[in-house]
Amino acid sequence: MKATPHIDPQAPIAETILLPGDPLRAKFIAETYLEDAVQFNSVRNMLGFTGTYQGTPVSVMGSGMGIPSISLYSWELIHVFGCKKLIRIGSCGAMQPGVNLYDVVIGQAACSNSAFMDQYDLPGTYAPIASYRLIEAVRRRAEENGVTTHVGNILSSDTFYNADETFNERWQRMGILAVEMESAGLYATAAHAGVEALGMFTVSDSLVTGEATTAKERETAFTQMMELALPLAQI
Ligand code: HPA
Repeated sequence: MKATPHIDPQAPIAETILLPGDPLRAKFIAETYLEDAVQFNSVRNMLGFTGTYQGTPVSVMGSGMGIPSISLYSWELIHVFGCKKLIRIGSCGAMQPGVNLYDVVIGQAACSNSAFMDQYDLPGTYAPIASYRLIEAVRRRAEENGVTTHVGNILSSDTFYNADETFNERWQRMGILAVEMESAGLYATAAHAGVEALGMFTVSDSLVTGEATTAKERETAFTQMMELALPLAQI
């Protein structure tokens, strides 16, 4: 199979791929949730694996942090390796009261302070959105599993630390549910290629209350989210 600058596949890559930020998280997911998982990538230690979930092929690979990283990996996964359903699974910082630790946020749309969209040279602003089909499927599953979800607008920020102290407030004023750092790039890359994408996140900290989760607690919340994400391979 052909290689790209960032992916040198040693095994097939499935049409559905889960993208956690951390490559060791990808390894954990493959070992814990997939059957017959084999590693397909090790370039730059951005580990990728393919296995099956209830008989359906699924891949999982680290995306790295930030819009440039997830966008280049997703571009190669789509255009060179034929991925059609790309699902970011990560964590986010809550920006609204009522979005609580361990809830799952689904990024219906993703705003950004990134210049990534400039490349499309559109005469206005582009609104990167998730696949509605995938949103609906996750919501239905979450209801069945009794998991609290919030579907709405998120912020994919290029900055984790902001010099401007009013930065968060101004996004909060626009009803942004939560902040993370990747989905706008994933959504735009998928839209431009005509494939489906979704970002879902467990709330790891709150910018409203200042609360944060512990590593152990994050593990449990993460399992709940995996149980929402994996069945997406089957639709
Ligand atoms: N900011 C950006 N990304 C994040 C955060 C945050 O507070 N929490 C989890 N991912």
